[in-house]
Amino acid sequence: MANPFYIKQLPLDAPFCNRQKEIAELCRLAESKNDVVIHSPRRFGKTSLVRRVQKELADRGALTIYADFFGVGSIDDVAARMAEAVFRVTHKKEPLWKSALKFLTTFRPVLRPDADGGVELTVESSSAGRTGLPLLNETMESLRQFIDNTGALVHIALDEFQEIVVLPDAVKIEAALRTHIQQYKASHFFVGSRRRLLLGMFNERQRPFFQSAFDYPLKSLPREELAEFLSKQFTDSGIICSKEMAIHLAELVDCYPYYAQKFAHHVYDLAGSEVTWAEIKMAMRSLIFSEGTAFEYAIQGLAPQQRLLLRAIAREPAKQIMATKFMRTHNLGSVNAVRNSLKQLELLDYIEKDSDNVWHVIDPVFTWWLTGRVSEEAMDGM
Ligand SMILES: Nc1ncnc2c1ncn2[C@@H]1O[C@H](COP(=O)(O)OP(=O)(O)OP(=O)(O)O)[C@@H](O)[C@H]1O
Ligand SMILES: [Mg+2]
Repeated sequence: MANPFYIKQLPLDAPFCNRQKEIAELCRLAESKNDVVIHSPRRFGKTSLVRRVQKELADRGALTIYADFFGVGSIDDVAARMAEAVFRVTHKKEPLWKSALKFLTTFRPVLRPDADGGVELTVESSSAGRTGLPLLNETMESLRQFIDNTGALVHIALDEFQEIVVLPDAVKIEAALRTHIQQYKASHFFVGSRRRLLLGMFNERQRPFFQSAFDYPLKSLPREELAEFLSKQFTDSGIICSKEMAIHLAELVDCYPYYAQKFAHHVYDLAGSEVTWAEIKMAMRSLIFSEGTAFEYAIQGLAPQQRLLLRAIAREPAKQIMATKFMRTHNLGSVNAVRNSLKQLELLDYIEKDSDNVWHVIDPVFTWWLTGRVSEEAMDGM
């Protein structure tokens, strides 16, 4: 039988664990025309969740626009991605497609056959030399006209929204987007995993989006539900996975959605008729190995002092990073350097404080990799 666990993007019709409460809450917020900031560490399932909420909203008659700002390169690119998102969702949906073509005049859609026999939609500029802020303003104004002309509820998800913060002229882009968003009737999700950057936009008094949206932190999956989900996927695909083993799988990856799928994927590939500790241990090593390149890349992007501090926190999660004992044990150097590194690592979302104010590395597999512990003792201790 085919491996039921996903290591790539989760298709909309794939089994989805839990999140009914979140889907219901987010639908309610969107339908009452609220804007919401959805944030969590990386790979917690924000995009998958937002996709499902938008599907639910669309099934109830809303027009759902999804724009992804990952890797956005310029102000023109911001405008293009907004226009492309509108064309993509209206394509083949008359009369919306006609309306999009009529109102969104700064870009025109370009349709080409793609490798899978479908159609690839991109956009190209059609606004005679207009670029930068005037192009964004005009695009957003045309979006307003399009929305005003659409009788239904319009919901717009802006994924990786914090990426606009690093663009030149970020403040102007934020201000322009906020001004236009206030002028049309649609609800928005602002989604992102670089939480310091994203939340800064909504929590800093002088910023255009200050306190303009509900705060919605997305948590990891509940342990019992995740274990049940994993166990069912195994069983439905011909391999027995006891509740006890499924609980271990969930706990070893701190109920982290992406790793739960990937870990279980490795276990499935290795298991015979039933999941045992032997496969779990082997799968743990494959998981760490498969993430190694990404972790090396992450480490290479850090200054030496930041690497030292990251390793220290991975080895010894602690409340008082600046305490003499912690600094000495891990050879961390000057207090100032540590303070700066701490700030940078937090900004990069590599570390955070838990509810007891203890600093720890957010990603459980990164923690194993950093400490060099393939977690024999973590597993044996369970
Ligand atoms: N509720 C869920 N049930 C099952 N698997 C899930 C669930 N949520 C997330 N996943 C798994 O986690 C993976 C990552 O999810 P997703 O891309 O939605 O996260 P994200 O928070 O948007 O990540 P990023 O921060 O990289 O944008 C999915 O491809 C899927 O394998
Ligand atoms: Mg995402």
